[in-house]
Amino acid sequence: MGVDLAIILGTRPEIIKLSPIIHECEQRDLSYTLIHTGQHYSDSLDTVFFEQLELPSPQYNLEVGSDAHGAQTGQMLAGIEEILLDEKPDIVLVQGDTNSVLAGALATSKLDMEIGHVEAGLRSFDRDMPEETNRVVTDHVADYLFAPTEQSQAYLREEGIPDSRITITGNTVVDALYRNRELAERKSSVLDDLGLVDTTFFLMTAHRAENVDDEARFRSLLSGVSQAAEEHSVDVIYPIHPRAKAKLDEFELSVPENIRLIDSQEYLDFLRLESEADLILTDSGGVQEEACIVGVPCVTLRDSTERPETLDVGANVLAGVAPDQIRSSVDTMYGKVSDWKNPFGDGNSATTILQTVFKTTPADSLAGDT
Ligand code: UD1
Ligand code: UDP
Repeated sequence: MGVDLAIILGTRPEIIKLSPIIHECEQRDLSYTLIHTGQHYSDSLDTVFFEQLELPSPQYNLEVGSDAHGAQTGQMLAGIEEILLDEKPDIVLVQGDTNSVLAGALATSKLDMEIGHVEAGLRSFDRDMPEETNRVVTDHVADYLFAPTEQSQAYLREEGIPDSRITITGNTVVDALYRNRELAERKSSVLDDLGLVDTTFFLMTAHRAENVDDEARFRSLLSGVSQAAEEHSVDVIYPIHPRAKAKLDEFELSVPENIRLIDSQEYLDFLRLESEADLILTDSGGVQEEACIVGVPCVTLRDSTERPETLDVGANVLAGVAPDQIRSSVDTMYGKVSDWKNPFGDGNSATTILQTVFKTTPADSLAGDT
C-alpha cells in the first residue's frame, strides 16, 4: 500500500515554497491531493504563480477569500475537514504560518492522519503577530516538523517537542530560487521594462498587518524609506501587495516621489528585481530569506524576525519603522560586501522532506527512490 499525501496551500508564499515538493511528487509519480483554501485569489497573488511555476491546478479550491481571522480560518477548517474525510490521505503537508496553515493543521489533528509542517520552528517571539500564533499551534500538533535550520530545531526543542519528530531540511525557498534564478535571468524583461538596466535601485516590499494596517506606522515606514533613498540618491521600487494598496487608499497616504509603486510582480520578475537590487527593504519573511540567498543586503522594516539566521550571518538588520532607524540601517547595509553563507540549505529540501515522510511510514519507501 502506498502513502497518500495531501498538500494544503492558500497564499503566494505557500505556492512558491511548496512548488519544489509538488514538482518532486509529479516527477516521482507520488500520489497526492492538492487543496487550495482560496485565501489568496487575485490573479497577481495566485494564478500567475501556478502558471509560472508550472504547477497543476488544485483538485479542490475552497474559495474562502478574505475575511476576519476567525471567520476565514473557520470556513477553511470546515472545508478542509470535509475533503480530508473524503480523500483519507495518510499525511497532510502544510507550509509556513498563514491562516491556511493553521486551518490545515487543526483539521488534520482531529482526524486519523498525520501532519507534516514544512518550515517548522520559526519564532519571532511576538505574539501580536497572527503568524506567530499560527506557527506555534501548528508545530505543537504536527507529527513531522521540518525545521529549516539548527536554530529552528533549537526553538522546537526548547518548547519540549521531541527530537524524534524533528528533521532539519533546509528551506524549500532555496530549491525554488535555484530552480528559477537562471530562468528569470533569461526570460524576465522587467529591468528593461522599468528602465532599471545599469541603474542603482532599492527594492522594497511592505504588506504585513502590523505595518500597513496601522496608519502611523505605514506613514513612518514610507517616510523613513524615502529619506534613506534620498540620502543615497536612489529610487525605490515598491511592488505593492493588495492589502497594502487597500490601506494606502483607505488612509489616503501619498507615496513620496522617489518610491515607485508598481503592481505586485510575478515570481520570475520579482527574483530578477531582487537579484539586481542594491539593497532590499522588506517586512516579508520570504523576501528576507531570498535577499540573504541572492547576496543582497537587507533592511527589515520590523522590530523582530523569525529569521535570525539572516541577522547572524550579517545579511540583514532590523530597523523597525522609525525614520532615523531606517536611515541608519540603510547606511550600515548599503554597499555591504555579501560574503555571507546562505544558512537555508543547498536546495534539496523537498527531497529530504519527501524522503522523511515516505521512509518513516511502514512498507513503502519513496517510489522511485534509490
Ligand atoms: C497573508 C498571511 C501573511 C503572509 C501573506 C503573504 C495570514 C494571517 N497572513 O497575509 O502571513 O505574509 O498572506 O502574502 O494568514 N487581498 C486581495 N487579494 C487576495 C488576497 C488578499 O486583494 O487574493 C487583500 C484583501 O484586501 C484582504 C487583504 O489583502 O482583505 C488581506 O488578505 P489576507 O489573506 O487576510 O492576508 P495577507 O495580508 O495576504
Ligand atoms: N514575491 C513575488 N512578487 C512580489 C513580491 C513577492 O513573487 O511582488 C514572492 C517572493 O519572491 C517570495 C514570496 O513572494 O518568495 C514572499 O511572499 P510574501 O512576502 O507575500 O509573504 P511572506 O513571506 O512574508 O509570508
